[in-house]
Amino acid sequence: MTERKWWKEAVFYQIYPKSFYDANGDGIGDLKGITQKLPYLKELGITALRICPFYQSPMVDNGYDISDYYQVNPEFGSIEDAEELLQCAKRYGIRVILDMVLNHTSDQHPWFREACADKNSKYRDYYIFRDDISKASQFRSIFGGSTWTRTEDGSWYYHTFAQQQPDLNWENPGLRKELYTMINWWLDRGISGFRLDAITCIQKDMSFPRVEADGADGLCDLRNYGLNVPGIEEKLRELKKETYGRGDYVTVAEAPGIPGERLEEYIGEDVFFSMIFDFSYTDIDLEPGSPWAKMRRWSLEEFKEKLFRNQRFVSETGWAANYLENHDQPRSISKYFQRKDIEKYSDQMAKALGTLFFFLRGTPFIYQGEELGMRNTCFSSIDEVNDVNSLGQYERALEEGYTRQEALDAVNRRSRDHARYPMQWNGDLNFGFSEGKPWIQCGQTCGELTVERESVDGQSVLSYYKKMIRLRNHSPYSEVLIYGDLEEIAPDPDIICYKRIRGGEEVRVAVNMSGKTLPFAEMRQVLLSNYEDPSGAALLRPYEAAVWVE
Ligand code: NOJ
Repeated sequence: MTERKWWKEAVFYQIYPKSFYDANGDGIGDLKGITQKLPYLKELGITALRICPFYQSPMVDNGYDISDYYQVNPEFGSIEDAEELLQCAKRYGIRVILDMVLNHTSDQHPWFREACADKNSKYRDYYIFRDDISKASQFRSIFGGSTWTRTEDGSWYYHTFAQQQPDLNWENPGLRKELYTMINWWLDRGISGFRLDAITCIQKDMSFPRVEADGADGLCDLRNYGLNVPGIEEKLRELKKETYGRGDYVTVAEAPGIPGERLEEYIGEDVFFSMIFDFSYTDIDLEPGSPWAKMRRWSLEEFKEKLFRNQRFVSETGWAANYLENHDQPRSISKYFQRKDIEKYSDQMAKALGTLFFFLRGTPFIYQGEELGMRNTCFSSIDEVNDVNSLGQYERALEEGYTRQEALDAVNRRSRDHARYPMQWNGDLNFGFSEGKPWIQCGQTCGELTVERESVDGQSVLSYYKKMIRLRNHSPYSEVLIYGDLEEIAPDPDIICYKRIRGGEEVRVAVNMSGKTLPFAEMRQVLLSNYEDPSGAALLRPYEAAVWVE
């Protein structure tokens, strides 16, 4: 019997603060902006927020490069603004979890500056320095280029991500203690838990074995040596015991490198995390380990297989964090559906994808703008792109011999900036996001999708999301939709279908992922449909989604 938990019943909303709402008119979203939009979030029905980093940072990687964990980056506001946000959210009954980046800091963090300035400083060992790397591995960092960067004194430091994000040395007990103190400080501010960024990167093979290059850059994929290396268990156990293990907190781990069949070793009361974000179906379009976001062909069959595999692996002891979008993913409509159908069916598609992930067993994580059906934007030049990852990928594509247009096409398919252009509030200047010049240009492709318009349209994607939340959390079917087991049904290769079952009750979910009308079962009582006239007939129309009881 699944144990009841507040976070299992929660509906999370993920916020990228820089692009959500700008309250002070400087073109950058801020914490006051989030506080001002709490009524909107309450009305939507979500019960918890996951907020991307707003700590002090030079913003090379938009806040995932932290230079002071105890301060708010001035462009987002102040600690008082953070406290006000937390208090107001509490009044609205909305819990807040923060992104916590523990694998690396910014190169501007005083620890790192001290470590570079003085080889004998205690902070030197907070990071991974080597005097000689001639025999060490030449891994490719996630954002491109070597994982080793040279300092002024001729030594080298290791970084999994950008060179401005030096990795912390988790072997150092003093460092770990400082991190735990800081984490507890945030927990004491009244947050409900964390999303743990790149947490499986904290343990690496510190012998850095020499391995053969696998790309034109002369470097090699770091995944076998720099992710989830044995020994990580002890670190995670201690982290939990010293911090969030103290109370009823939730942790959602970004944990690349954990194979599905080992998930139960990581998720659950007695192990490390409450949930883990699975990338297998959201990165299905990417060539694994490709240095420049090379696309790969994938089939719906494969997508289903990965989706349900994850559900199966966490069905016994764990709990899933279900999502299709976040601040690192392009918009899901643009990823999963064919361009030719998008104009005609975008509304059905947005609702269909919502239906697909929302009723799986686990906690749903909506990403800002997904509830409006926002889609990828279009970059006409690489100069319009801000994302450090896309900029690196663009360069690597050129290095690999692709033309500028091909490199830009790849960015247009996969850039993280598709999820980071401003939230669309209304039809005013900059979609009501800011009265100033936005730090990144607004979207180019779905101007009519705004909160203002969709709020008054009972058939909008936004209204549909509200209905989904009501059905999952406040209906006679809540118990089965939250805690019920999941069983896949396979009626047709183009349909994703499953049922949720609990105590003799059963609710079914079906999504036609194709542009074809397909024969389907009779639906006795339709609880939710993404077409205005739920047919209930023995067919599913293009991109039709339905939740029903037989
Ligand atoms: C994963 C985060 O989701 C991503 O946005 C960030 O760039 C890297 N980790 C580095 O912290």
